[in-house]
Amino acid sequence: MKNDIGVMINRANKVDGLCLLDNVNNIAIKTAFFDPQYRGVLDKLRYGNEGEGRGKARHDLPQMSEELIIEFIRKLNNVITPGGHLFLWLDKFHFCQGILDWLIDTAFCIVDMIVWDKQKMGMGYRSRRQCEYLVILQKKPIRAKGCWKSHNIPDIWAEKVAKIHPHSKPVLLQKALIEATTDIGDYVLDPAAGGYSVFEACKLCGRNFIGGDIQYGED
Ligand SMILES: C[S@@+](CC[C@H](N)C(=O)[O-])C[C@H]1O[C@@H](n2cnc3c(N)ncnc32)[C@H](O)[C@@H]1O
Repeated sequence: MKNDIGVMINRANKVDGLCLLDNVNNIAIKTAFFDPQYRGVLDKLRYGNEGEGRGKARHDLPQMSEELIIEFIRKLNNVITPGGHLFLWLDKFHFCQGILDWLIDTAFCIVDMIVWDKQKMGMGYRSRRQCEYLVILQKKPIRAKGCWKSHNIPDIWAEKVAKIHPHSKPVLLQKALIEATTDIGDYVLDPAAGGYSVFEACKLCGRNFIGGDIQYGED
């Protein structure tokens, strides 16, 4: 069944993620993923390939300002249940700069992080990028007992991905994290879902997906 903004459970919804978050009512969300469309690396490190070749697909995506990212995080804070988790993907620039400012006025605390080894070398003037960073936030109260079930997830995870989207994330890592933090039939949220890797992960482990992307999905 569709709600007021046309969002359906277990469907790729073409929708503004902020509207989606305003309309996630009466659904308990223990786990959400947020993978913002960063300008950080392009702006700050000036790799120089923006708008050309491989850089073009990234450049053509709607970029998120820092203010917009903070707005997403605050709305995610409103919908995630106490003790629930937000898995936040970070690029190298924001990882180094720090993101504590983004958490002001929320109940999120940083509780862990995982490095994703993409098993494929990317660009870089100095070192060449092969990994991305997943910061694990928990909404207070902070505790692992009763909120985190798996104890075999390493903090470096190697997984190759099929390039369904310019920023496709590892389905099996996300599945492991969903299984660690939710039960079968629970809802998992992704308001900027891109190629819907979180939806794929949900299908593999019997969770319900609620999410969308401003550019990809069904109207
Ligand atoms: C980094 S990608 C997500 C990739 C995704 N995690 C995957 O595995 O395929 C970020 C996405 O945010 C989307 N986006 C940008 N602004 C948005 C907004 N206001 N609402 C929803 N999606 C948005 C972009 O279209 C882009 O597909």
